[in-house]
Amino acid sequence: MPKITYIVDGQTAVTVDAAVGNSVMQVAVRNDVGSIVGECGGNAMCATCHVYVEEGPVDSLPAVSAAESEMLDCTLSPRESNSRLSCQLPVTDLYDGLVVRVAQEQV
Ligand code: FES
Repeated sequence: MPKITYIVDGQTAVTVDAAVGNSVMQVAVRNDVGSIVGECGGNAMCATCHVYVEEGPVDSLPAVSAAESEMLDCTLSPRESNSRLSCQLPVTDLYDGLVVRVAQEQV
């Protein structure tokens, strides 16, 4: 099972086993990691699952869709070049070693 590390509060690294098929948002919520809310249930309609992809298999991630990009313009924490909606990142075995920093402000 791939392991994903979430950096919460800007400094604490929490590594969890991520079930393939769940999104990076769902893995965080189910493991009570950080401040990810996932208010819309993963439909790219709320921007409360904002993360910054810091390292790992970045090339394995899907491209940012138009809908995701539109919502990333609505995040409370500033959008950066490595910003993603974690609900739009469906976990595969290729995600092993992924490190994401949870945006401090979600709602
Ligand atoms: S959970 Fe709503 S945009 Fe990701």
